[in-house]
Amino acid sequence: MSRAEVDYRRIRKAVFPVAGLGTRFLPATKTVPKEMLPVVDRPLIQYAVDEAVAAGCDTLVFVTNRYKHAIADYFDKAYELEHRLEQGGKDDLLELVRNVLPDHVRAVFVTQPEARGLGHAVLCAQPVIGDEPFAVLLPDDLIFARGPGALEQMFALASESAAGVVAVQDVPREQVSSYGIVDAPRFSGDSGRIELIVEKPAPEVAPSTLAVVGRYVLPPRIFSLLESLVPGRGGEIQLTDGIEALLQESPMLAYRFAGRRFDCGSRIGLIEATIQFALEHDDLAEEARRYMRAALEQNA
Ligand code: UTP
Repeated sequence: MSRAEVDYRRIRKAVFPVAGLGTRFLPATKTVPKEMLPVVDRPLIQYAVDEAVAAGCDTLVFVTNRYKHAIADYFDKAYELEHRLEQGGKDDLLELVRNVLPDHVRAVFVTQPEARGLGHAVLCAQPVIGDEPFAVLLPDDLIFARGPGALEQMFALASESAAGVVAVQDVPREQVSSYGIVDAPRFSGDSGRIELIVEKPAPEVAPSTLAVVGRYVLPPRIFSLLESLVPGRGGEIQLTDGIEALLQESPMLAYRFAGRRFDCGSRIGLIEATIQFALEHDDLAEEARRYMRAALEQNA
């Protein structure tokens, strides 16, 4: 299949780059990977995995490092725990533990020996992805959607337009320097072709306020482009630079997904997500609401 003929109709593989240092959550992340921090009762990684599986992915590639054994352990079978729950007749809990990864889904772990940037982490997944289009999900961007998940929406767009897709959301101009920013001048409805993508621009030179969030649908060609990039500051290879190179040869769309994204890579984002998901839980919502009201009154 030539470069132009990537078949986006059936995407099965998703990459989860989870080899970052997570310094914003130190000291917790000294031993607990950021992706294992819980929002209510599930770790961040579980939300991203559920979104990928719901979109139809059956091969999940985790790019980890030697400090992140907890992630592999989490997706492994917990024989003793399952046995005890089974014997104790705790079927509902057993179901929860077993459903962490459905039977038809396989998890593959690859190592990023050094944290050399998101682009480099994605490149580490190449041997598993091969010559297929694939998804990338950053689990610290937690997306709450009432209908189909963000990735499922992106797969639909990629399939119908035969193009790669990058998720975006509008951010205040003063925040653009924290994001990759796209220029998609003919943006209409929810999507538009990306003409330019820049990493963390200063507000006065940013081409727009459409910020990239952690969901991508990419063609396999991205790997050779990432490979040929000259590492930037700190020896890092940026995914944004790989996508910028890709734009020169194939169309990529920016897509404003339906849903709310929480930046759980930041402390306030994790707090906001916890509040949102607590308010969505049947058995927690009332108590959470009551506590929040009281806390706000006391701290007014
Ligand atoms: P972040 O920019 O959030 O960095 O990475 P970080 O190290 O995880 O967290 P802080 O900023 O130190 O608190 C964005 C995503 O890219 C992955 C991270 O795991 C996260 O999912 N990443 C980043 C890698 O897998 N490898 C890298 O070399 C860099």
